[in-house]
Amino acid sequence: MASSFDKKWNKMLTMILMLVFLNMRQQVVVHGEPQVPCYFIFGDSLVDNGNNNPLLTAAKANYPPYGIDFPDGPTGRFTNGLNTADITAELLGFDKYIPPFASAKGKEILNGVNYGSGAAGILIETGKHLGDVISLDRQLMHHQRTILSLTFLLGGVKKTHEYLQKCLYTVGMGNNDYINNYLMPEYYPSSLLFSPDQFATLLIQQYSLQLKALYTLGARKVAISGLGKLGSIPMYANKDPATIESINKAVQLADDKIKPLVDELNNLPGAQFIYLNSTSISLGDPTPFGISVFDAPCCKVSTTIAAGQCAPGEVPCSNRTVNVFFDNFHPTEIANRLTAARAYQAFLPTDAYPVDISNLVQDSTNNIQQVFGKTKSDLSVGSF
Ligand SMILES: *[C@@H]1O[C@H](CO)[C@@H](O)[C@H](O)[C@H]1NC(C)=O
Ligand SMILES: *[C@@H]1O[C@H](CO)[C@@H](O)[C@H](O)[C@H]1NC(C)=O
Repeated sequence: MASSFDKKWNKMLTMILMLVFLNMRQQVVVHGEPQVPCYFIFGDSLVDNGNNNPLLTAAKANYPPYGIDFPDGPTGRFTNGLNTADITAELLGFDKYIPPFASAKGKEILNGVNYGSGAAGILIETGKHLGDVISLDRQLMHHQRTILSLTFLLGGVKKTHEYLQKCLYTVGMGNNDYINNYLMPEYYPSSLLFSPDQFATLLIQQYSLQLKALYTLGARKVAISGLGKLGSIPMYANKDPATIESINKAVQLADDKIKPLVDELNNLPGAQFIYLNSTSISLGDPTPFGISVFDAPCCKVSTTIAAGQCAPGEVPCSNRTVNVFFDNFHPTEIANRLTAARAYQAFLPTDAYPVDISNLVQDSTNNIQQVFGKTKSDLSVGSF
């Protein structure tokens, strides 16, 4: 009985997925004004588009076969083509990808900036065994520099603050605080010092401060990506089922705290924070999209430096549209497309809370303020 239900459920999911996916492709070719004037991206390697290139770190992807399906070749994106931030920008109607902070210049920053940094985390020490990384605290400092430049471009503090309130912000952090910290006792003492529950609490307390700082810097429409089922990435494929289960459980402790945090943040005047449930978004059967390899990376991965990333210069699998993963950590463009589509337009009630990105970016004249329990006049009360 359960399995026939599963089958039906999967079939339904698949149909909706197809619709969202096709709909998304259509939207991409629509030209005109983007749905928000600006889009700022905070996060890790899932969104990094070149910020780590100039850093002294092994956590970079500016060499082949990364970028094999990207028009400019390897750019520092940790995938074969587009990452989720690129695809979200497309869905929002931008005609260019949001530039990396490392090289954004002049008026470009009016459209937003991407601060993402591979191996970075909520905690400043996360990822440091690989070299320099740009932690969320440093990404927020970079954002302050952007705001200063915007103040000159827009001609004033008040105008800039009003502008910043209209932007979309996405934040995806925390996965590396496990992969490149808590799950690496050989480099980091966190798992000796803290139980999984204590570590999750510490992590989300820090995240809460950082997200409040982002709000103070003018952000109102903020989408936070939850942590994923990390036990299922190819990196841990050779672990025994009990270890995989314990990884997933530990990570879920942190993920479970983000939704209540979103509720708390939405008590701030005008705040519209949403939670994107990565586990929910990964549910469903992607085989109708041609995806058939779920647990093996497409490229030949390095076993020495930055183990699990693609080994430089090796020829990857010939058909990148059949694999979920490009290397041992990072999804292929096709998988990123499915993720970004569902974050933009949820099709399971659990994908996004309380609304998805497409609702978040709608004008406040729609019913969105009711969802966040705010009146329209609250929305115009800044706190600057
Ligand atoms: C995320 O989605 C999964 C799968 O539907 C669900 O089990 C979990 O409770 C959700 N998490 C939150 C915090 O809503
Ligand atoms: C790649 O795989 C997809 C899905 O199986 C298939 O539709 C497509 O024709 C393949 N492309 C090439 C170049 O083999």
